[in-house]
Amino acid sequence: MSARRTSIHGEWSSRFAFILAATGSAVGLGNIWRFPYVTGESGGGAFVLVYLLCVALIGIPVMMAEILLGRRGRQSPLNTMRTLAQEEGRSPAWQYVGWLGMAAGFMILSFYSVVAGWTLAYVVRTATGVFEGATAEGVQSIFTDFIANPEGLLAWHTIFMVMTIIVVSRGVKSGLEQAVRFLMPALFVLLIAMVGYAMNTGQFQQAVEYLFKPDFSRLDAEVVLNAMGQAFFSLSLGMGAIMIYGSYLSHTASITRTAVVVAGMDTLVAILAGLAIFPLVFEYGLEPAGGPGLIFMTLPIAFGQMPGGALFGALFFLLLVFAAWTSAISLLEPAVTWLVENRGMNRVKAAAWSGLAAWVFGILSLLSLNLWSDDRYKLFGMPFIDLVDWLTANVMLPIGGLLIAIFAAWMMSREASRAELGLADGLGFGLWRFLVRYVTPFAILLIFLNKIGVL
Ligand code: TRP
Repeated sequence: MSARRTSIHGEWSSRFAFILAATGSAVGLGNIWRFPYVTGESGGGAFVLVYLLCVALIGIPVMMAEILLGRRGRQSPLNTMRTLAQEEGRSPAWQYVGWLGMAAGFMILSFYSVVAGWTLAYVVRTATGVFEGATAEGVQSIFTDFIANPEGLLAWHTIFMVMTIIVVSRGVKSGLEQAVRFLMPALFVLLIAMVGYAMNTGQFQQAVEYLFKPDFSRLDAEVVLNAMGQAFFSLSLGMGAIMIYGSYLSHTASITRTAVVVAGMDTLVAILAGLAIFPLVFEYGLEPAGGPGLIFMTLPIAFGQMPGGALFGALFFLLLVFAAWTSAISLLEPAVTWLVENRGMNRVKAAAWSGLAAWVFGILSLLSLNLWSDDRYKLFGMPFIDLVDWLTANVMLPIGGLLIAIFAAWMMSREASRAELGLADGLGFGLWRFLVRYVTPFAILLIFLNKIGVL
């Protein structure tokens, strides 16, 4: 059987376009909203160190595996897994990796859209000068009041989901390239400016120590699991998002270099976000473990005090909306391509139905912040939104990643993966194959076993 397929959904115009799209998927709320608050909840430096190890030893190999499988299969992740399993003479059960991925993508999108809605709301608030001269307490209570109001949250959640559906229904390749090419560098520049501000006005030294001086007494099984979950979440791995993007990649591009570039940029943005936020956390005596509201309770203090802060802050949140947008579309894409391939739907209909389903599910997360916030509605001691986040990032994505690594490393023949990685990946291939066979799967398993107390 010929290994060279073409995707019915089209191809990127260049390797650079793929890098832009994959970076657009990876860089999002995960870096700027989730990374700082999970770092704070996990106690700082030791978590960051384990996170970086997870990016290198688990993230990059799994990302390469996803791109490789996607490019070889050239279909939705589910059909790619089915086709490749058949081709390699493996069990058709491998297609369940595709189902697991679609479920995870749908669950993540449901709460992702709610939080992206907060970001949208904060564009308006910052622009209209709500935070001007506000104290730390003032900014905190603005956030608390904001999430206590379900109608407001619902409006923003709806707007963001509609935005996502519109892009996906047009096909993720048109427009995405332009958006990422200009908006990502802009976000980067603003983030650096924020780090500069934090350096001058905040407790920068203390923040650097907090982030980079590991206190190993803070390390336990949960912290390590959080670090792995954050790596999967931030790099968009384990559910087929990078796989479907890989399926639009041309045959001549180097997968190794591409994966290293994308992972490197994603990590840089997360670290910069940490350096922008923690100096303010310490300056204003806020709680690092303040939870999901962390950036919404710290950055506005700075925007309220710096000259031109309303404009600068609005621009910052606007760029964050764009970053979230380019991430959200990759969460929907695997399900949409599957509906197009297997249910004969057109793109518009497929995007509308799957987006609608995620929107409805997202309402449960939204209500768990206010109407259903008391203990009676908690499952495993967590509000619904935290539970969905925890279950997807810390369990479903790593299981998906584990299966993807095992499939690429042990189920694909050496020749097939060698051919797919291509000659351009000579050195990379050897290292990748060693990691993905012997290091990545065992690292994921160890972290799981450690967490459930078997080790
Ligand atoms: N990585 C994105 C972020 O950091 C979120 C995201 C997009 C994602 N696609 C994904 C997370 C696929 C997990 C899987 O904001």
